[in-house]
Amino acid sequence: MTTTLRTDQSHLSRIAVQMTSGGRGILAADESIKTMSARLEGEGIAASATSRRDYRELLLTAAGLSESVSGIILCDETFGQQLADGRDFPTAASQLGILPGIKVDTGTKPLPGQACALITEGLDGLGDRLASYAERGAAFAKWRAVFDVNTVTPYGARANGHALARYAALCQDHGIVPIVEPEVLCNGDHDLAASERASRMALGSLFDELDQAGVDLTGIVLKPNFVTPGLDATPVAATTVAATTFNVLRATVPAAVPGIAFLSGGHRTADVCAFLHELHEIPDRPWDVTFSFGRALVSAALHTWAGSPANVRAAQDVLLANCAEAASAAR
Ligand code: 13P
Repeated sequence: MTTTLRTDQSHLSRIAVQMTSGGRGILAADESIKTMSARLEGEGIAASATSRRDYRELLLTAAGLSESVSGIILCDETFGQQLADGRDFPTAASQLGILPGIKVDTGTKPLPGQACALITEGLDGLGDRLASYAERGAAFAKWRAVFDVNTVTPYGARANGHALARYAALCQDHGIVPIVEPEVLCNGDHDLAASERASRMALGSLFDELDQAGVDLTGIVLKPNFVTPGLDATPVAATTVAATTFNVLRATVPAAVPGIAFLSGGHRTADVCAFLHELHEIPDRPWDVTFSFGRALVSAALHTWAGSPANVRAAQDVLLANCAEAASAAR
């Protein structure tokens, strides 16, 4: 039985600001066991709890990572693992000046009655899990809802927004800052306007639900997609992506939200850094903007590592260079 308390809101706001300000961003290293195993195998590395641990240790211990990274999102497996020196991951992250975070959703399932739409699950027992993560040092959590521009409906946006809001309220009750992630996928050949419509729908429903759930917006971090044409469509200029993304966010995200940390979604590192840079240049932005990239920061590092201890240093250098590039776009 979990006892939930409304914790000190200023604590939550301070953490949310720390996560998204000062030109530092969040490293998303929370791939599920299945996804991480597939990525390792894609590089010819045998997937096991040990290889997943070694890879995450490589990322976390890159020297000076905290200069550009404020927080790291871990999955449950890594959160409970130890580094080679015996420290557990959340403790090591804190000692390195990086806030430890935990992905708490359990993935997506088809949303009944809605052709091809998905609902993110994981609310059952979440209070008890959050209590345990908080006790073990989690400063923040993440929950990701997924939308396809071709199948998103108002009902699907509402259902996922409702789940995100229940998750966010529970996190705040446990003194954990919720990252709320409504991701509109960029796979496909849709145009910019389609992405804009879907993003507006997802974000509009989300903030309605957060409001009704009584979530303190000063103690959350929003993690959206950049509003872009599909990866298979003709690209548009970074200035256009930034202006369109800003317009969607301005219409849907209250100024009380301290910071927005973007996902990379499969875009190239240089592209997402350019989007972030242009967005950061827009005057009179009410929120801090930064990155919470996964693939754009780590894919090349994983490739360089290739599972060999001899390549750890070179892989860390690749990671650090990508993090530095993303951080400079947010400064
Ligand atoms: P990508 O930046 O690779 O899209 O991953 C970010 C993330 O955390 C998705 O949930």
